[in-house]
Amino acid sequence: MQEIINTDEIKSAIDQAVKDIKSSATLREMKMKFLGKTGEIAALMKKIRELPPEERPATGKIINALREWAEQRFDECEAAVKQAELGERYLREKIDVTLPGKKRKKGAFHPDTLIVDELVSVFSGMGFEIYEGREIETDYYNFTALNTPKDHPARDMQDTFYLGGDFLLRTQTSAGQVHVMENKKPPIKILSPGKVYRPDDDATHSPMFSQMEGLVVDKGITLCDLKGMLDEFARKIFGSGVKTRLRPSYFPFTEPSVEVDVSCFECGGKGCKLCKGTGWIEVLGAGMVNRAVLENCGIDPDEYTGFAFGMGIERIAMLKYGINNMKLLFEGDVRFSKQFRE
Ligand code: PHE
Repeated sequence: MQEIINTDEIKSAIDQAVKDIKSSATLREMKMKFLGKTGEIAALMKKIRELPPEERPATGKIINALREWAEQRFDECEAAVKQAELGERYLREKIDVTLPGKKRKKGAFHPDTLIVDELVSVFSGMGFEIYEGREIETDYYNFTALNTPKDHPARDMQDTFYLGGDFLLRTQTSAGQVHVMENKKPPIKILSPGKVYRPDDDATHSPMFSQMEGLVVDKGITLCDLKGMLDEFARKIFGSGVKTRLRPSYFPFTEPSVEVDVSCFECGGKGCKLCKGTGWIEVLGAGMVNRAVLENCGIDPDEYTGFAFGMGIERIAMLKYGINNMKLLFEGDVRFSKQFRE
């Protein structure tokens, strides 16, 4: 009998185990080991069958007492472990309510975005639809269809990032004109803002900049329509007293081509630093769509005419907001952008 119910040994084993228990996981493991259905105490119980019948009740009592004792030990241990684990959790999740809060910094719209939004609102008021072209173009759309075939001297006007094969980064939003005219029959009235690329990088040029293209094609469109629309644009963007003037220029895809100036909104045309004493400020290029371009896009130039214009967004932003250094527009400093919300 003695050897099968050596409770002292088990008791000291349980005492040792309980001492070492630091987590609920090991507690569960140890409970199984001693108190589980196939645990050590259950194994003792089974051995009772090997005893002579008269010894069984007494031995059973001893083992039951052992089980109760063990259960109590483990219950105490569980309470201690839970307490410790809760303490650790509180420590981990502790929040110092006296610390100052983290402020979320507010962003600001980039001046380019403000100008594009304003232009889009002015021109959509005149019935223009927005067309967003693609930044990767083929040579055909960026040049050839725009009446600038290979070896045409006008290609020198715009240095180009070639991507290999026939692909390039568009140098002008004018490339989008061709897609529009190929896919839509007149009347056409679209406005196309977007990024363009040229390998120039100096104080007044950036290899990536933004343009806004406009295209109108319909029966009977003349240069007067262009002038009238530009007057409206200039008044809305630069102020009610601002006038426009057209100067002859050259673009391969327009004929005639013009450079558009607005009267200086700083000095009212008297001459100042901004307009370099001339009273006028150049803002965009424009012209009547060249017959060859209409033909390239499957539009009959005897039936339809059109005008196009293209402006540099950064240039308009700099003029309008009095920004004197183009690089500021490309630095992404929110303290800079914050100054322009109107
Ligand atoms: N694409 C021309 C440029 O980038 C601008 C332009 C557009 C001129 C449309 C005339 C008509 O310089």
